Order: sequence, then structure tokens, then C-alpha cells
Amino acid sequence: MNILGPEFNVDPYPLYKRLRESFPLFYFEPLDAHVLSRYTDIEFALRNEAFTVKNYEFQSEPLHGRTFIQMDGTEHSRYRNIVAPSIRGRQLAEKIMPIIEATSARIYDSFISSGKADFAAEYAARFPVLVISGLLGLDPGDEPRFLAWYRSFVDFIADLGQTPAITAKAFETKEAITDHLLPIIRRKRENPGDDLISLMCTHEIDGVQMDDMEIKSFISLLITAGGESTDKMLSLMLRNLLMCPEQMLQVRENRKLIDNAFVESMRYSPVTHRLMRITNAEVEVSGGVIPANSKVVLLLGSAQRDETKFANPDVFDINRPVALEKSFTSSAGHLAFGSGRHFCVGAMLAKAEIEVAFNQLFDRTSAIALNAPEFPRESGMFTRGVGALPIRFTPAAKNTNPHIIL
Ligand code: HEM
Repeated sequence: MNILGPEFNVDPYPLYKRLRESFPLFYFEPLDAHVLSRYTDIEFALRNEAFTVKNYEFQSEPLHGRTFIQMDGTEHSRYRNIVAPSIRGRQLAEKIMPIIEATSARIYDSFISSGKADFAAEYAARFPVLVISGLLGLDPGDEPRFLAWYRSFVDFIADLGQTPAITAKAFETKEAITDHLLPIIRRKRENPGDDLISLMCTHEIDGVQMDDMEIKSFISLLITAGGESTDKMLSLMLRNLLMCPEQMLQVRENRKLIDNAFVESMRYSPVTHRLMRITNAEVEVSGGVIPANSKVVLLLGSAQRDETKFANPDVFDINRPVALEKSFTSSAGHLAFGSGRHFCVGAMLAKAEIEVAFNQLFDRTSAIALNAPEFPRESGMFTRGVGALPIRFTPAAKNTNPHIIL
């Protein structure tokens, strides 16, 4: 059972099925980790305090610095609560939505008239990252720099630390981000505006403000946490719809189904396939025992195809019954955003981005087709996505009513 082998990279789903059926808890020596693959066991682990996020001390801190992703208990909620309210609810609808819409429109405008594009490179790899840069209140002139930082971090994560040049570049990026952001943070602290950096500068936790390095670290985390998953999901969702043209048509004609297609894409082709945890006590799970201080790998990608949770799990079906109102909250009936205390803080932001991306795409095109002989397959060990997604389309005539289908 090799969860790091080349066949896993090509198609992990047959292996996941074998694991769920016969080895739902097993010890994987190359990672010195216990591995869980069933939905109920993974949900249990994500919600159980014995499974800590100490893993992020080596998975995230060396690159980004210390952030709330690696904190537990009240420390975690205090820091998380600084950011969370500003990227959901009214703030999201009133302040961030205009940034999302304008950013998406600007990117589509750069290629839509040509009738073809690599959607992955020209849209998906840019849109969520530029939204983050916009909501942080960074200068638009900083965008190319911001995109380059993102690329360097994502390459590093995909490479799993194997190529020295990629590792060196990521740590140079870390220095560059620090040098670039610290003066901006200081300026915003003295002269706060209406953006997320200013909010972090002025908000107090028990009378104490986040210091400059804490803010820098959180921004650094956001570049990957807020960029990579949405980037990859955008292309995966479009790929899934291209593979099922009748479902694509349903979504084009009834835009409320964009959310269904998003939730189903996160189930059928999730971006995050593994999360890690470290136990702080001995835990009984899946008929076995995980000792204290053990690494545990949670195969989210497997949970999302668990036949005891989802009927016909290997079929992409946007009409699957799903409680949409819960799908972007910690009581979601899926695990693509995690679960429990560390449930994705950006889930509502991601939902807004996906809705805008697909609404604008459908408004600006009258037909979309794959522009390659074969549908791109996913690859990746921790996160999975497609490398490229060449498409062609007929640009729509200028449409004054965005919901009239041309
Ligand atoms: C399709 C899009 C997304 C997916 C699939 C996704 C997935 C996830 C998952 C699985 C986790 C749980 C990590 C864990 O428990 O160890 C998580 C946490 C997190 N996500 Fe997302 N994410 C997405 C979009 C975003 C966006 C847009 C942001 C930007 C704000 C974001 C920021 C974060 C942060 C900061 C955490 C850590 C939360 C905490 O520790 O309390 N994510 N995400």
C-alpha cells in the first residue's frame, strides 16, 4: 500500500477503495504515519482534540512563520476570529464582492475575444491570487510580484522538498515577501485604510495587537491557502463540466446550480487529498489504536469517494441531493474544506469566487469546448489539479443583461 507511489499520482481512487475496504487504519513506514481513509474516521479525527495541528509546525511554519493554522484551543480561535468575520457575511457581500467581480472581469477581458485560452494558466492561476492581493489592499502594481510569490510557493509544495533549486527559490520568496510587506504593514499601522492588512494592524486580542511579523506570516499563508485550492478547483470544475456537456448546459441555464457543481466537484475531484495531524494521546479508531505523539495522515480524497457516505461515488453528478446551505459551513456533509475547528476559514470566499468565475464565463461565451485531444488528468500527492486546460469558445456578443443566455 504505497500512498506515495507513481500509480497513486496517476489515479489514487482504486488504492483508496482498497484501503477503505481492507486497511482503514494502517501504518505507513515511509512517512512514519498512521493512515485513515474512511469518511467517518477522518471526520472523527478532524473533530477530536486528541488530533492536534502540531504538524503545521513543520508543514507550514518554516515557510510562512507561525499562524493560526498551527494553533489549537483558545489561541486558535482568538487569532482566527480576527480574520474570519472580514471574509464572510456582510463584509464579503459589500466590500469583497466588488473586488472579486472586477478582478474576474479584468482577467476575462484579457483573453475572451481570442476565442481560446488555457483556462488553468490564463484565468485560474491568476484570479484567486489577485483577489487576495486586492482584499489585502496591496498596490495593483504589486500584482506580478504577488503572482510570482504564489508560483514559487505552489511549486515548492508540489515538489515535496525534493529539488534543491525549487526549495531555495521558495525560501528566497519568503525573504522577498518579508522585505516587501513589513514597510507596507508599518505604513498601514500608522495610517489604516479599509483593507485586511489595516484590520489586522488595528484589531486587538485581549488588548494586544498582532505584531508586524504575525501579520506578514498570515499574509504569506493566505497566498497559498487562499490561492492554490481555489485555483485548482476552478479548472477541475470546468474540466468536470466539459466532460459532462449535459450537466454543463444545466448549469449554464440555471446558475443556481453553480454551487451544486462546485460541491460535487469538491467531492468527485477534491484538491486537498491529505491532511496531517499529530496525536497528543492514545486514540482508538477504526478498530485499532494510534499511540500518542503519532503522525496521522487523513486521506480526504478517499473520504470524498466513500461509498458508505455517497451513493455511486465514482460518478460526477451535480444533481446529487445535497444540503447546500450547510455545504460551506463546518456542518457540511463533505470534508473538502476539512471539519471542526480548522474548517476552511475561506469557504464562503471560495464560494463567491467560484460563482463569479462561472457566471462571468457563461455570460461571456456562448459555447465552450475542450481544445485538446484528451481531457487533462489530475496529478499531485497532497493537492491535486490539472496542469493545463485548453478551451475554445464563441465569445458572446456584448450582453447588457448578464443572465440572458446568448
Ligand atoms: C476550493 C477552495 C478551498 C478549499 C478546497 C480549501 C480547503 C481547506 C481545507 C481542507 C482546510 C483544512 C486544513 C486543516 O484542517 O488542516 C482549509 C483551511 C484553511 N483555509 Fe481553505 N480552502 C479553500 C479556499 C480557501 C480560501 C479562498 C482561503 C482564503 C481566505 C482559505 C484559507 C484557509 C485558511 C487560513 C485555513 C486554516 C483555517 C484554520 O486553521 O482555522 N481557503 N482549507
